[in-house]
Amino acid sequence: MVTIVSHPLVQHKLTLMREKSTDNALFRETLREVSFLIAYEVTKDLQLGARDIETPLEKGSFPWLEGRRICFISILRAGNGLLEGMLDLIPDARVGHIGLYRDHETLQPVRYYMKLPEAIGEREVIVVDPMLATGNSSVAAVTMLKEAGAARLKFMCLLAAPEGVAAFETAHPDVPVFTAAIDRGLNEKGYILPGLGDAGDRIYGTV
Ligand code: URA
Repeated sequence: MVTIVSHPLVQHKLTLMREKSTDNALFRETLREVSFLIAYEVTKDLQLGARDIETPLEKGSFPWLEGRRICFISILRAGNGLLEGMLDLIPDARVGHIGLYRDHETLQPVRYYMKLPEAIGEREVIVVDPMLATGNSSVAAVTMLKEAGAARLKFMCLLAAPEGVAAFETAHPDVPVFTAAIDRGLNEKGYILPGLGDAGDRIYGTV
């Protein structure tokens, strides 16, 4: 299932990020802000526990989110741009990283790095990557996480292509996808059109 977060603030900020004259600092800051807004949807069914506290007037038991039960998985490197905002919201969350590169001959994603928190099967896992383009890396990352025992997974991105959504839903129909928009399609190099360019380059200023 795909949820498009159509909130006006998200759509406005996404336009700012698409604009090619938006510089790296503003792009990064806007991505952080958008991640808060998308996170609102992604996290809305998280289970709350209770915490006994004292207000200045009384003792009581109040809703409490156990951050350590949540795990963000960043698909390197652009995933880190979304990750930062998510950690602002849930600083106690655990974090894992998955690094993949594309083999030039097979065109398939190959893992070069994976570091996950322990007991991944007991956590709510939110995989973050701004761009769901061909879907190859996100499909592979979620497959690796399932093999590692993850059972409760969501995928969060900023922008998706119809091809990526279709590939992801075919491979992982049990994993909900959250995005701000689904664009027209992919170009021959696998970039999303109209898109916003290379998210990693725009976050880190590497062009
Ligand atoms: N990755 C990006 O950073 N941009 C795209 O358009 C597609 C994949």
